[in-house]
Amino acid sequence: MSSIVQEVSINLGERSYSIVIGGGLLADAVSYDGLPRATAAVIVSNTTVAPLYIALLRKALAVHYAKIYEVQLPDGEEHKNWQTLQRIFDVLLEQGCDRKTLLFALGGGVVGDMTGFAAASYMRGVPFVQVPTTLLSQVDSSVGGKTGINHPLGKNMVGAFYQPQRVICDLDVLVTLPAREFSAGLAEVIKYGPIADMDFFEWLERSMDDLVAHESDALAHAVRRSCEIKAAVVGQDERESGLRAILNFGHTFGHAIEAGMGYGVWLHGEGVGAGMVMAAELSRRLGLVDEIFVERLVSLIRRAGLPVRGPILDSTDNASRYLQLMRGDKKSEAGEIRFVLIESPGKAVVRSAPEGLVREVVDACCQ
Ligand code: NAD
Ligand code: GLY
Repeated sequence: MSSIVQEVSINLGERSYSIVIGGGLLADAVSYDGLPRATAAVIVSNTTVAPLYIALLRKALAVHYAKIYEVQLPDGEEHKNWQTLQRIFDVLLEQGCDRKTLLFALGGGVVGDMTGFAAASYMRGVPFVQVPTTLLSQVDSSVGGKTGINHPLGKNMVGAFYQPQRVICDLDVLVTLPAREFSAGLAEVIKYGPIADMDFFEWLERSMDDLVAHESDALAHAVRRSCEIKAAVVGQDERESGLRAILNFGHTFGHAIEAGMGYGVWLHGEGVGAGMVMAAELSRRLGLVDEIFVERLVSLIRRAGLPVRGPILDSTDNASRYLQLMRGDKKSEAGEIRFVLIESPGKAVVRSAPEGLVREVVDACCQ
């Protein structure tokens, strides 16, 4: 039996859905009431998460669906590619899955992004449900409909906007998450403060120790508030024609770190952690925020167990390597890099910055 503690709505007209947050949800058949009827349910997971949770999900889904198939993908960001995606299509076609098939993404952001993209494209679109099992995927990637895979030349470069039918965030599954992955998730929690809600930022300053200790009320609040902020932003700008880009605070530098180090070496959240420090420092050097704000952010990121300095990507000319990688960012326009900066604490702005200043920031913020 689950105890539903929170429900957040994401309002997108006919594509609206709920994010349900609580303990014991994954194994409770009630969590799946009211989802589309389907000829088959297909659970997509990976070789780490499946042994932990797929049997529980399968049992709960058996109350609703006569046929349940499984796909177990290899684990890791380095497998977020065409080859792995193809394995989902292989199973769907081998099992004769039709347009009324319902996919369930059981895993972190990698499984969620790939399952969503498979759902968006299989027979031109079948419904899917997100069952996120990492903190990062509960507070960010499972919500808002960004799906896709990486390309060797850029992260998340191939994909689709495609909304799930529901997001089921079972907080209990976070107990098995390695500490490093939990910290990576905290990066995406922290980002919501500087871009949208300084009250939440202050709450995080007070509650970081409780969060790191997995204290359940603190965790429930952090997941709920993160989802509320994300839902509000996505509700206004589903396809990122403007506002939604603020959710990428720290990501321009962070994606450069991930790609520059090789996918999987630095976790996405670790890149975002160090990337937020660089973006905040760039904001300070542009005269938007003061040093105290940057220090508070650095302190919070450090307390979350995240790196606060970027890696050296090129020992001969590190800043040029960062710039080269960042020019390929999806926010770039005609080769001009656009950064999510903090205009004032709690408010973000997307804009370019003088190259010389960006070089100074990279030099100042990398090991
Ligand atoms: P992940 O999916 O690689 O999961 C991290 C690790 O934890 C993996 O080894 C996974 O197998 C393991 N794991 C997952 N749940 C577990 C559990 N409960 N217990 C034990 N182990 C568990 O990484 P992530 O941090 O969840 O997601 C990162 C991905 O999300 C990146 O590819 C990133 O680009 C993407 N992302 C997408 C969006 C979006 O809006 N779609 C937003 C942010 C990030
Ligand atoms: N994680 C950024 C976004 O969903 O837009």
